[in-house]
Amino acid sequence: MRRKLVAGNWKMNGTGASLTEVGALAAAIGDPACEVLLCPPATLIHRMAEAADGTPIAVGAQDCHMAASGAHTGDISTAMILDARGSHVIVGHSERRADHGEDDAMVKAKAEAAIAAGLTAIVCVGEDLAQRDAGTTLDVIAGQLAGSLPGGASGETLVIAYEPVWAIGTGRVATPDQIAEVHAALRAGLIQHLGTDTGNAIRLLYGGSVKAGNAAEIFAVTDVDGALVGGASLTAADFAPIVAAAG
Ligand code: PGA
Repeated sequence: MRRKLVAGNWKMNGTGASLTEVGALAAAIGDPACEVLLCPPATLIHRMAEAADGTPIAVGAQDCHMAASGAHTGDISTAMILDARGSHVIVGHSERRADHGEDDAMVKAKAEAAIAAGLTAIVCVGEDLAQRDAGTTLDVIAGQLAGSLPGGASGETLVIAYEPVWAIGTGRVATPDQIAEVHAALRAGLIQHLGTDTGNAIRLLYGGSVKAGNAAEIFAVTDVDGALVGGASLTAADFAPIVAAAG
């Protein structure tokens, strides 16, 4: 039985003043049935972890470098995330793949570094609009999964997020049928690569314009084990109903 995970990705949003949302979120969600995670900018990880003390809210990072330390200006390591009291890290988000030229091999290396450090890695995959329109979605997803799947993964240390690029920040959400098709393919791919037990233990999140109004319908889709939420994770008022919809 996979426990749902509702994860928020604040992207490049938020300063110390935004941390009032953490207390507000904790008050609104109470004792949720699902896991709840917020991934703020690196500058806020430690302060958010302190604000989340004693609440069910876990805190994570939006990216990490694959190296332990060194001459990588602007990057943060897995040890730095742990030191800031983060427990999770998103890797391979389409904005990182597009803005920073990250390919599957880099995403795999980052995920492996995260898992080796004791973090849970959330590996993102997803097709763009041209790929969807060309009918190559399942091939693209299979290739990304094969290329970015870290070695040594388990249900505790790896989460996969399906995020169609055309649905991110656009208000255009994938249909339940589109989500079901890709999640079934991802589940089959995980089982093929990692075996039945591990493949069935890894959670599959959907991401892309998840809001309070569509979350329940998305969570009802087979093999959807939660959501990765961008814009609607920035305020407790928007995020708490999504957590509630996860049961
Ligand atoms: P969105 O972003 O919810 O704002 O569409 C999702 C994501 O990129 O994780």
